Amino acid sequence: MKKKITIFGSTGSIGLSTLDIISQHNDKYEIVGLSINNNYEKLLEQVSIFKPKIVSIKDTNSFEKFKNRNTLKNLKILNGSDSFDEILNFETDIVVAAITGSAGLLPVVGAAKRGITIALANKESLVCSGSLVTALAKKNGSMILPVDSEHNAIYQVLDIKNKQNVSKLILTASGGPFLNKITEELEHISPEEAIKHPNWTMGKKISVDSATMMNKGLELIEAHYLFDMPHDKIDIVVHPESIIHSCVEYSDGSILAQMGNPDMRTPISYTLAYPNRIPTRVEKLKLSEIKKLTFYEPDLLKFPCLELAYSSLKIKKSAPTVLNAANEIAVDAFLNKKISFLSIHKIVEKTLNKASISDINSIKDVVEIDTESRSIATEFLTNYRI
Ligand SMILES: NC(=O)c1ccc[n+]([C@@H]2O[C@H](COP(=O)([O-])OP(=O)(O)OC[C@H]3O[C@@H](n4cnc5c(N)ncnc54)[C@H](OP(=O)(O)O)[C@@H]3O)[C@@H](O)[C@H]2O)c1
Repeated sequence: MKKKITIFGSTGSIGLSTLDIISQHNDKYEIVGLSINNNYEKLLEQVSIFKPKIVSIKDTNSFEKFKNRNTLKNLKILNGSDSFDEILNFETDIVVAAITGSAGLLPVVGAAKRGITIALANKESLVCSGSLVTALAKKNGSMILPVDSEHNAIYQVLDIKNKQNVSKLILTASGGPFLNKITEELEHISPEEAIKHPNWTMGKKISVDSATMMNKGLELIEAHYLFDMPHDKIDIVVHPESIIHSCVEYSDGSILAQMGNPDMRTPISYTLAYPNRIPTRVEKLKLSEIKKLTFYEPDLLKFPCLELAYSSLKIKKSAPTVLNAANEIAVDAFLNKKISFLSIHKIVEKTLNKASISDINSIKDVVEIDTESRSIATEFLTNYRI
């Protein structure tokens, strides 16, 4: 029996890597649903190759263009974010959650409610919703398999039955493209420079998050909720080679790490094949060619976003939701050349200071707090010179 896969964000970096694996193993997997924002031309290609039963296109213009050019018979074509639920009504074994930002929350919630296995790339959905998503998944028997390479590495080496023997989770960070720049040099960084990651090819938003190190902050919060570990038992270490993807330290002094070339097809294939493994086109790591691996403490002064994420996690409640929403607004403004690179953390900090921090009891609360935080951050962008 082939596993049925639905991908939310099929035209993005994670979506394309997932489809690459599926094209290599079309005897094991079949595509049921694909969902995108507006890249309808790429979706037309995907539809002709993978022949899904249903697609959804958020942008109405792109939806119309896709409909006019689609030639696949019996394909159900939906428009708008409301269609997430309708896609999930088609039988699916694994949902690959690969939309960027909190826009990806609702498909994750929908899959968790239906007890579907979630290959989770969309870290923002865990960051913004506190423990709601993991609790929902647990209640309905939905397994969350992390795609993020760090969390995937931890998942692979964490002895969950002996969690009392785990002394620390250690998340590795490449340090991004500006690891060796001084703060003054960061003032005039362009979006083009910020999205050039030294080791990974990724979407624009996560690439900027890697450059500010907010990505590692979001991952810290993701790890807290995913593995139910207190914040003081999660460390971050800068490892510029991106060979060790993360580690678990045990009480006896052992550190177990997962290694590999930096290629997202490794963690994605792990989630698709779990609990088995399947071959990928990823180049194998040649240990004898690696001369040395280096590790450093992160510089919280140079990367204040990381410090903001640490403090949000300590506060918890809605603080991570506010942090995430403000960051999405600030990164978008930076990519559109409305603010400087160093203004990103200022928008996030100001929004965190202004927003009221409250308990999160429902997904409705999350959506409301996310919306409110976005308008506070937008107000700072519009009314103040930051
Ligand atoms: N890329 C990586 O290596 C990597 C590694 C770890 C974790 N992640 C996480 O995976 C997620 C995706 O990252 P990515 O790099 O693949 O991003 P990306 O390349 O920007 O792709 C995002 C995908 O989501 C779709 N999308 C965006 N906004 C949407 C919306 N409002 N409604 C419906 N679809 C929407 C896009 O469609 P269009 O193409 O039509 O715009 C695209 O298919 C992020 O949460 C990121 O943090 C990525």
